[in-house]
Amino acid sequence: MARISLRQLLDNAAEHNYGVPAFNVNSMEQVLAIMAAAAATDSPVILQASRGARSYAGDVMLAKMIEAAEIMNPQIPICLHQDHGNDETTCLSAMQHGYTSVMMDGSLMADAKTPANYEYNVAITSRVTDMAHRIGVSVEGELGVLGSLETGMGEAEDGHGAEGKLSHDQLLTDPDQAVDFVRATKVDALAVAMGTSHGAYKFSRKPDGAILALNVVRAIHERMPSLHLVMHGSSSVPQELQDAFNAAGGEMPQTWGVPIEEILVGIKHGVRKVNIDTDCRIAMAAAIRKVAMDKKSEFDPRAFMKPSMAALRDLCANRFEAFGTAGKASKIKPISLATMAKQYAAGSLDHNLAVAHAA
Ligand code: G3H
Ligand code: 13P
Ligand code: ZN
Repeated sequence: MARISLRQLLDNAAEHNYGVPAFNVNSMEQVLAIMAAAAATDSPVILQASRGARSYAGDVMLAKMIEAAEIMNPQIPICLHQDHGNDETTCLSAMQHGYTSVMMDGSLMADAKTPANYEYNVAITSRVTDMAHRIGVSVEGELGVLGSLETGMGEAEDGHGAEGKLSHDQLLTDPDQAVDFVRATKVDALAVAMGTSHGAYKFSRKPDGAILALNVVRAIHERMPSLHLVMHGSSSVPQELQDAFNAAGGEMPQTWGVPIEEILVGIKHGVRKVNIDTDCRIAMAAAIRKVAMDKKSEFDPRAFMKPSMAALRDLCANRFEAFGTAGKASKIKPISLATMAKQYAAGSLDHNLAVAHAA
């Protein structure tokens, strides 16, 4: 068994200057494909489940799939992470099901739609960190609201996220407030609002600094050089995936995601966890569409799922290589959550809270 906490994994990533893609999982096919890519490239892996994934597959099924992945790949450290936890109950129940990391997304209220105020975010995130660290589980917090700097809109696209128009102040994490937030909540990693959003339709053109604000990442990293930063909404929505999807009968209007080279700039400046779901969805859906288009008499689900798993495996292997995750799995010896809990209690994991200089 090689389950690893997010904190241990990101500490290793920081020490060796790489990033770790966090892939969303809902089904056996996704778990198998991501693990095949991790095994082929010797990469540690973050598998994350949204609340939607947990209700789609069921907590027991998801937990058992991850257990199976561990048994099949004992050499690969696996971090199981709750994506966008909306309250204490979601985070606690994830811990009960063996998650080694939880995101408490207090940038939104528990309805996952209404932007929360700063005091609410600090209070709820601190409560989750206090609980989680007692059992060695890591916590990711979020400050600032994900959404588009082009339109000012949050992201209703995948059914959750802020509703309505947001100000630039809300859409961009304030670096000074980030210092205060991290020190108050003691989170292990901080998700940053910088103009990225979930889903396929992030940007109407190739993003530049006006709509993809990597300067926010740089500013936080300057203030807190040991803090692990997280980029959400980091699918690249590559042209070739859009073309494959459309060539197989799909209808995806031209769109732009976060280019790999921009993610690499983030990794240079403290980004350690890179959330990717949409690219995985498009890769699988394009492959399924192609079988449906090419083989009209096909009805064996495996004939659809096998090429879709291959497409997902190739995509994940590409991200492991690009972010420098490849080759790192065999160099990590997972520390138990019990030992992590002792380290939190002793204060020996507080170095990520250090501030380099006043703003
Ligand atoms: O958080 C965003 C991920 O893409 C998960 O989406 O809530 O539809 O599973 P989901
Ligand atoms: P994408 O929609 O860009 O893949 O982002 C996924 C994500 O941030 C999950 O939390
Ligand atoms: Zn996200």
